[in-house]
Amino acid sequence: MEKKKIIVGNWKMNPLTQKEAEKLFTNVAKNISTTKTTEIVICPPFLYLEKLKKISLGHSLTGGARKISLGAQNAFYGDIGAFTGEVSAEMLYDIGVRYVILGHSERRGMGENNIDINKKIKSALVAGLRPILCVGENVRDPDHGYFNLVKIQLEECLSGISKNSFGKIIIAYEPIWAISSTPDRKDATPSDSMEMAIFIKKVLSDKFGKDVAGTRIIYGGSVSTKNAKDFLQNGGVDGLLVGNASLNAKKFIDIIKICEALKQ
Ligand code: 13P
Repeated sequence: MEKKKIIVGNWKMNPLTQKEAEKLFTNVAKNISTTKTTEIVICPPFLYLEKLKKISLGHSLTGGARKISLGAQNAFYGDIGAFTGEVSAEMLYDIGVRYVILGHSERRGMGENNIDINKKIKSALVAGLRPILCVGENVRDPDHGYFNLVKIQLEECLSGISKNSFGKIIIAYEPIWAISSTPDRKDATPSDSMEMAIFIKKVLSDKFGKDVAGTRIIYGGSVSTKNAKDFLQNGGVDGLLVGNASLNAKKFIDIIKICEALKQ
């Protein structure tokens, strides 16, 4: 099973203009090395995907910056149909998108549930997109009920998915209480991440079989240039899902470099 490290930038609903999006993307693309130890994915708003895809192709053609893969922040199930306001995984694949974040806590907060996410993961896989499934708890209750919540998220979101699709799925553990935009947020530690990564592996192996225990797990929640190395070395994860820091080209590049400098 593929075990390359992966750094994903989730731009959320930023930046405000296409010009700024192009500038940010180009800055990152120009300043990353051509080494092959780390996969890099940028997930901008839908609107910017096509243009940024063209830019990324341009950079790889000139042999300069390595190609950055593009990801979407959501994709609807099905391919086409009467779903006003939605964009399907098939449409995204067609314009060169290869990853999709599904089940992000901000979308769950808008009403998306595990059943919706399950349908979206299945459609994404059919379309050829690699789903990045986000799981994570709101709070850490003293009775450790949050483990059960993550277990249910995994079991319901991944229900009915065949074993051989797991090589394409990435699980992102994002404790909501540690995300930069959460009011009164707290820092999660690499040991919080390690503990949950072990738990996620156990749930996957119990529910879907031992072969899926190698599914890549990444951490997200206020990742910065200061804590990236510690999470990668001691957090039990294969990569990072970066929100706020991915909107600053220098910080995002530094996080990529930190990852590349680590032994695989
Ligand atoms: P921050 O890195 O801004 O905390 O965002 C985390 C996140 O939600 C990424 O998907």
